Amino acid sequence: MVTINGIFPGPVIYAQEGDRMIVKVSNETPYNTTIHWHGVRQRRSCWFDGASYITQCPIQAGQTFTYDFTLENQKGTFFWHAHVSWLRATVYGAFVVYPKTGIPYPFNYPYQEHIIILGEYWKQDVVQIERTTAASGGSPPVADAYTINGCPGPNYNCSNNDVYKVDVVPGKTYLLRLISAGLNSENFFAIANHKLTIVEADAEYTKPFTTDRVMLGPGQTINVLVTADQPVGKYSMAIGPYSSAKGAAFQDILAIAHFQYLGAVTNSVSFPAQLPSVRDNFAVKTVMDGLRSLNLVNVPTKIDTNFFITIGLNVQKCHSKTPKQNCQGINHGVMAASMNNISFVMPKISLLEAYYKKINGSFTEDFPGVPLKSYDFVNGAPNNIPNDTQSLNGTRVKILEYGTRVQLILQDTGTVTTENHPIHLHGFSFYVVGYGTGNYNPQTAKFNLVDPPYMNTIGVPVGGWTAIRFVADNPGVWFMHCHLDIHQSWGLGTAFIVKNGKGEVETLLPPPADLPRC
Ligand code: C2O
Repeated sequence: MVTINGIFPGPVIYAQEGDRMIVKVSNETPYNTTIHWHGVRQRRSCWFDGASYITQCPIQAGQTFTYDFTLENQKGTFFWHAHVSWLRATVYGAFVVYPKTGIPYPFNYPYQEHIIILGEYWKQDVVQIERTTAASGGSPPVADAYTINGCPGPNYNCSNNDVYKVDVVPGKTYLLRLISAGLNSENFFAIANHKLTIVEADAEYTKPFTTDRVMLGPGQTINVLVTADQPVGKYSMAIGPYSSAKGAAFQDILAIAHFQYLGAVTNSVSFPAQLPSVRDNFAVKTVMDGLRSLNLVNVPTKIDTNFFITIGLNVQKCHSKTPKQNCQGINHGVMAASMNNISFVMPKISLLEAYYKKINGSFTEDFPGVPLKSYDFVNGAPNNIPNDTQSLNGTRVKILEYGTRVQLILQDTGTVTTENHPIHLHGFSFYVVGYGTGNYNPQTAKFNLVDPPYMNTIGVPVGGWTAIRFVADNPGVWFMHCHLDIHQSWGLGTAFIVKNGKGEVETLLPPPADLPRC
């Protein structure tokens, strides 16, 4: 498998708010790669965002590229990951940014802190799996295992000796930095008999919220405080599937790590962790309800541009001469996914380069701000698969003037199946001002404009909607996509081009000299 500096998960990067980061990546693998700094807003430094074909061409085998960006007004738990094909399955690591010197956490100092990265592991070459899946027109194989810090734990064959362990002292409080680096599945996380108090989500503080478990979609990070307040013993930390799509396959063996008290008998059995059932949408909602920004926030109240974006899966008609091989999707079609029924096609050179150097032919500026057709998105979605569920292919983007106050309503659809989609926006954090089940209805939707969470990845509820707001004050080209990689491969994404504003501080920096070529 592909690793960074020979370790898996990759090395943790520790930094401090305001630091300038310089990271030289030399690609010693046969694959194209990039590294994305997930959650870092990259103010004026879009060239270093690492989204392949969006902000840069991939770093090819044998080449190097140096990322150079500043952690402006950002602190908390981030991660970095490859942003080409499915390489992210093994190319990821934590990225911890401490507050400036002398600035305390807004909670009592934990005795210790630990990083817990959830992952998914395939025995086969993931780049090959992505290719075979695309060629088949069907769905990919589920992961062979879930992992916690790279270890699947005792439920999997031959993994008894590879169990990640957090040693704890009775009575002490620990900060766990939970990161979901999974590829295609969303996961519940819980520790047997222990409460989790959420204090940060997507690298922004939240009001403390205590729960028995959390759900993380790929791309989400949550910091929780856990107090070792139970009898001395060995307790399971477990991750298992949250699978909201009907009929979708998933890995159902839990990955286990241990939360082990000082003084516990080492080879004793651990107390089992209780996870919600695989389709427990309510468990997801209760955690979402608890996410509030710690302080009052500055949510845009006037909106300049409103988008209504449907998200979901599609099945395209088979056009192959060898349908048995290439059209293994539902009803002999080809699986796809889309926003407003447009399946995003990766361009041949990066969008940012095409835009900056005015090279024509890579993209069009006509991403629709509303769906092309209006219908009962959740319950009345077209289901005469694949005749009615076609999407259009295209590299369609939306141009925004600098400073535009944007509201996006993300609406899940029942085309193929409703599903919770973790939608990630590059270049910004956004306020999650509202969400609900069913179709979005402006008359009845309730918004929180007081203390909504400020996030970069939001799980749009299954068969529901989410409203997010941000100010487009960061010039560049910013990808917005489902962080389930298979959906991204199928086209569930689009990009915003934010123009320069006035003067130097509102202008994108020029490209670096070593920017890779396609
Ligand atoms: Cu964490 Cu575009 O990704």
